[in-house]
Amino acid sequence: MKPKVFVSRAIPEEGIKLLKKSCDVTISKKNRVLTKKELIAGVKGKDALLCLLTDKIDMSVLKASKKLKVVANYAVGFDNIDLKAASKLKIPVSNTPGVLTDAVADHAVTLLLSTARRIPESDSFTRAGKYKGWEPMLYLGGDTAGKTLGVIGGGRIGSAVASRMAKGFGMKVLYTDVKRSPKFEQAVGKAKYTSLANVLKQSDFVSVHVPLLPATHHLISTKQLKMMKKTAYLINTSRGPVIDEKALVAALKKKEIAGAGMDVFEKEPKLAPGLAKLANVVLTPHTASATHYTRSAMSEIAAKNVLAALKGKRPPQLLNPEIYE
Ligand code: DGY
Repeated sequence: MKPKVFVSRAIPEEGIKLLKKSCDVTISKKNRVLTKKELIAGVKGKDALLCLLTDKIDMSVLKASKKLKVVANYAVGFDNIDLKAASKLKIPVSNTPGVLTDAVADHAVTLLLSTARRIPESDSFTRAGKYKGWEPMLYLGGDTAGKTLGVIGGGRIGSAVASRMAKGFGMKVLYTDVKRSPKFEQAVGKAKYTSLANVLKQSDFVSVHVPLLPATHHLISTKQLKMMKKTAYLINTSRGPVIDEKALVAALKKKEIAGAGMDVFEKEPKLAPGLAKLANVVLTPHTASATHYTRSAMSEIAAKNVLAALKGKRPPQLLNPEIYE
């Protein structure tokens, strides 16, 4: 009998085709995030779960099938999965790192430039027929050349953003992380490792690239926003709860910082009250990795992780290697 795989929402075909070669694949037909009850019902009796970052995978979901041999997350971030619970049950968990680095870095740069150069505001103005001729003071924005980019989180994506802005836009780079990263410094060329406080105080643009962990929840709140320059911009393509969104709205309203470019939100899909009304923000709906290539490649990687585990092998992008010790 073929192993049974549950896919919690339709994803690009590439991975599904791979799975279908040797598995019995059930894809949720509901074009929305499943409720806990629906997720449990979907997992019941399955050998594998391919899930999304919007699915909360806790003990009750993991225990929904006695046969569950793998949880493959269709995302690089995995804060939606109770990894400890999965390890307790000896269920391997995987993610999709690497293939989305460029797409997310491009999106962070896009948000940075769109926010600084006030692209959505000036686009709306132009479409509305309000452009009556060139003006010396129309939509003045922030510069990048010679300015300082502060990166919070020196992993793959943080280093790809820093590298783009240092090499392509002539920015100086500061970064902070739990420890210094030779890889980051090598990729960027010239980057100074410093504290979070220094990054916030000295940067003209701050881009956030940390995973969501208890230690990074509200890493940026009122106190940290007050440390930033009044002319600085904050960009977030990591996870919403890393920034205290209420505090951000307050800081933006009081013009304590110049603007923000956000792809992720604290209580997705909801936005903090007042955020959408602000002119000095650019908002996108968690689409940083949304390119045709990236989303297809993520689908393939997730499928390959499932297939490896079903063959009794370690999934290539395994997150809890301790289960094999
Ligand atoms: C991820 O993979 O974690 C991203 O947030 C998806 O865009």
